[in-house]
Amino acid sequence: MQLRIVTDQPWQVTADVLAVPIVGQPSFDGGLAELNRRSGGELAALASFGELTGKRYHAALASSGDLPAGRLLAVGAGEGDALTRETIQRLGATIERRLGGRTVHSLAIWLGDLGTHLDGGDTTVAELLVRGVVEGSYEPKAIYLAAVESAPPALDELILVAPGADAAALTRAAERGQIIGEGANVARTLANRASNDVSPIVLADAARDIAARNGLSIDVIEPEQAAELGMGMFLAIGRGSDNPPRMIVLRSGEPAERDALGRHLAIVGKGVCFDSGGISIKPADRMEEMKMDKTGAATVIAAIETVARLAPGTPLLAIAPAVENMPGPHSARPGDIVRAMNGKQVDITNTDAEGRLILGDALTYAEQLGATHLVDVATLTGAVSRALGHLVTGAFGTPQAWYESVIAAGDQAGERYWQVPLIDDYVVDMDSWYGDLQNAGSAEGSLVKSGLFLREFRTKPWVHLDIGGTGYFRKALPFAARGANGVTHATLVELALAGAR
Ligand code: BES
Ligand code: MN
Ligand code: ZN
Repeated sequence: MQLRIVTDQPWQVTADVLAVPIVGQPSFDGGLAELNRRSGGELAALASFGELTGKRYHAALASSGDLPAGRLLAVGAGEGDALTRETIQRLGATIERRLGGRTVHSLAIWLGDLGTHLDGGDTTVAELLVRGVVEGSYEPKAIYLAAVESAPPALDELILVAPGADAAALTRAAERGQIIGEGANVARTLANRASNDVSPIVLADAARDIAARNGLSIDVIEPEQAAELGMGMFLAIGRGSDNPPRMIVLRSGEPAERDALGRHLAIVGKGVCFDSGGISIKPADRMEEMKMDKTGAATVIAAIETVARLAPGTPLLAIAPAVENMPGPHSARPGDIVRAMNGKQVDITNTDAEGRLILGDALTYAEQLGATHLVDVATLTGAVSRALGHLVTGAFGTPQAWYESVIAAGDQAGERYWQVPLIDDYVVDMDSWYGDLQNAGSAEGSLVKSGLFLREFRTKPWVHLDIGGTGYFRKALPFAARGANGVTHATLVELALAGAR
């Protein structure tokens, strides 16, 4: 897809479709009045008919009258003072998805006055709209089907219409948005692929391809070496399947190299290629979704690629413990005591709390490799989706200053987080009769406890992002297909790029 910045007025632009944002209640003044006039009053007519509402992510197709654009697509942005970076990205995605099944080769989007509502103005809007269009073009059915009815159009050209803007700055921003959007889509495909397709070995092979294409170092640790390294929690789960586990380690920059902020950042992602629950087996209902329990791994693998594309050589470590959590003769049993890589003796009271086990060893290993700052991403709990739903990611961290740096990167990326407290008083609920602690604990406050467990396996500043609710959508939304949605990818990219030279 070719990107083009046009600094003419929107009524001068030729394209198959010209998308027009509607901020607030539809009212036809300024540039919109001119577009309405040249469309033969079509926009105003649709508004009075009730077809064009201006409601956020509601989009109406209109004929274009005398305009050089083939059709108009009016898309609601909601009230101007409520506009966020997330909204702009989702507007881009909504526009692209609303055109699903239509014949569109060139799409133009008029930026209108969106930029007046955001830091960074039109440059920010350009980046986020393009990212949104790229992410909006994602069609999960295309993974396994040759032809998908009403898929979002494969555009030849995306034109941003920003009268009087600095075209060079907008071009750079648009290209950045395109690369970040493509990275999110890489994460989504890895996450969405079926468990009979993506085993830990296949995930490691995908990481190898990404490393080779982007000049990254890669080390894939097999069970024998994991045993030598003492990764007892990782192996307790990994041994339970005929598909052996892999600890995938990708690196950009030199070992333990500090970035411009003095950090050696490690991003760690949960890679459970299928989570049956193991011996503590899950109910059948929606168990098929547990192929997406590798979303955290997919996200960190994609994020390090995106960082390498945008700022090659930026110091960054990405670690993805990849396992299949299966019941069988080699599975961990409830009550098994295993020795974590950091020496703690862990009582596996529930084999379905497997994510924290594999992540705990991955965090320890990240520190051994020189990480000074840690962020992990995981579809860790069902509890987080009960608490916060599918649009806000639960986040934990310590110390608070590091938590806030990560959330600031999230703001930049247009991603929402809500802090879950690490309540020390609940640690006693995770006491074990035989070991240092158990992996599950009682059900009350189980979301807090999942974070408390992970906290035991790091000594450096650490943030944990639980995408159990937000990582994939159960139904399609105006701005996203169903399935994995790439959440946290852009946050991790912004966080790492903050330390680029
Ligand atoms: N992968 C699941 C969490 C999950 C469930 C994510 C549904 C998305 C949708 C995780 O491994 C798990 O099973 N967690 C348990 C923990 C419990 C046993 C302490 C849970 O949330 O029920
Ligand atoms: Mn589980
Ligand atoms: Zn899981």
